[in-house]
Amino acid sequence: HHGGGRVVLAEPRSFCAGVRRAIEIVDEALRRYPPPVYVRKQIVHNHYVVRDFERRGVVFVDSEDEVPTGAVCVFSAHGVSPTVRERAADRHLDVIDATCPLVAKVHQQTRRYARDERTILLIGHADHEEVEGTYGEAPDRTIVVADVADVARLELPRDEPVAYLTQTTLSLDETAEVIAALEERFDDLQGPGSDDICYASQNRQNAVKQIAAVADVVLVVGSPNSSNSVRMVEVAARTGTPAHLLPDVTHLDPGWLDGARSVGLSSGASVPELLVEQVVDRLAGLGFDEIEVVRTATENITFSLPGSLATPRGSTG
Ligand code: F3S
Repeated sequence: HHGGGRVVLAEPRSFCAGVRRAIEIVDEALRRYPPPVYVRKQIVHNHYVVRDFERRGVVFVDSEDEVPTGAVCVFSAHGVSPTVRERAADRHLDVIDATCPLVAKVHQQTRRYARDERTILLIGHADHEEVEGTYGEAPDRTIVVADVADVARLELPRDEPVAYLTQTTLSLDETAEVIAALEERFDDLQGPGSDDICYASQNRQNAVKQIAAVADVVLVVGSPNSSNSVRMVEVAARTGTPAHLLPDVTHLDPGWLDGARSVGLSSGASVPELLVEQVVDRLAGLGFDEIEVVRTATENITFSLPGSLATPRGSTG
């Protein structure tokens, strides 16, 4: 390629509000406390973010049990079960909670539906960290359903009082079928209001679908363990345009661009914009030096930091 190729950038892409907040929380913890600052699980599912924090004094652990008694411990954006909170309290950990407020809302609703003695059908993947946390709010009343086949297998009477909740990183498109099946199956079904739903995944999927329609090939920056990034590749590929996931610019295979005149580019909700910029630079070097932005939604949601971190250090506020 000798120039004149086009990059079509999807908007929205990269960090959602909950991820941005979680990263700010760890940044602030590093400013306030001497290292190491412990973080339970990957703060967000991105290897670059994790490695950068490790260099700056963060120690990632799989379990609160690995954190020394009394140390600072950040809970990741995906949330934790009440059992984890109890164990952290038992160990006198200085907990800073980076759970996304929209995930926290799902936890609240789980508790409320449990109090109302409803059976909770949690739409999501049982092995996802977020689902583990939410499930833990009412393990006796919650059943995880991943798909329509799981709904068909439910051994519950038709008049069972039920409620559904969803894993926030799933898009509305992904949950619609399951919700429709639940509506068919049960007479007394409740669910969250539209204000309580996270639109970040849906917005990113809509945008990537749009650029896939106009580009010859689509690149999605994201880690393989980021479910929303992987899903964006699937959504793009389903339009018939070849699509590739790349953790960062070093994974860009110029062979993918053979014969292409335009490259669609987006990134998952856990991906720092810096990684996208690096790909943009590399693409420019490969002759794709015109940039067009396709915006399908505007996200102006921001979440404030937890109270304990919101006031400047030393303030008596
Ligand atoms: Fe929160 Fe939605 Fe992001 S739940 S972490 S804003 S994907």
